[in-house]
Amino acid sequence: MIERSFVMMKPDAVSRRLMGQVLSRFEDKGLKIVAMKLRQIDEDLAKEHYGEHSEKPFFNGLVEYITSAPSLTMVIEGDDAISVIRKMVGATNPKEADMGTIRGDFGMDTGRNIIHASDAPESAKREIALFFDKEEICDYSMSD
Ligand code: CMP
Repeated sequence: MIERSFVMMKPDAVSRRLMGQVLSRFEDKGLKIVAMKLRQIDEDLAKEHYGEHSEKPFFNGLVEYITSAPSLTMVIEGDDAISVIRKMVGATNPKEADMGTIRGDFGMDTGRNIIHASDAPESAKREIALFFDKEEICDYSMSD
């Protein structure tokens, strides 16, 4: 089934100049970037996006970090895109993430784990609506 996922390269990916390499992985895989925006996320948006973690000990640090510099926010579309992208992203802790995954190949620290991707259709819907207006999501065909 064609799905859309919300994907965000976090400030560590931007500051470490990893955007191009990570984006290439999604393009090479055959996924379709249908929206993309480089933006510095403010505190309210960060708290809303990560609301489910509000009671966790790392919550304040997470919000502080996510708001500290720009992130590259995206909507990526494709067949079973949510699970395919989660697989490409790898485990939350980059030290435990399989080699070949984005976190496994580029990271060492759970608090600086390079990328976020929606974990289920409901969260994808919520996150996409939080970060993008409907008109910002493009409809186009890709060549094979
Ligand atoms: P993400 O996939 O964006 O979803 C929640 C984020 O919380 C996660 O990636 C990590 O960046 C962060 N996170 C989860 N667990 C911890 C932790 N133990 N310490 C610091 N940050 C964490």
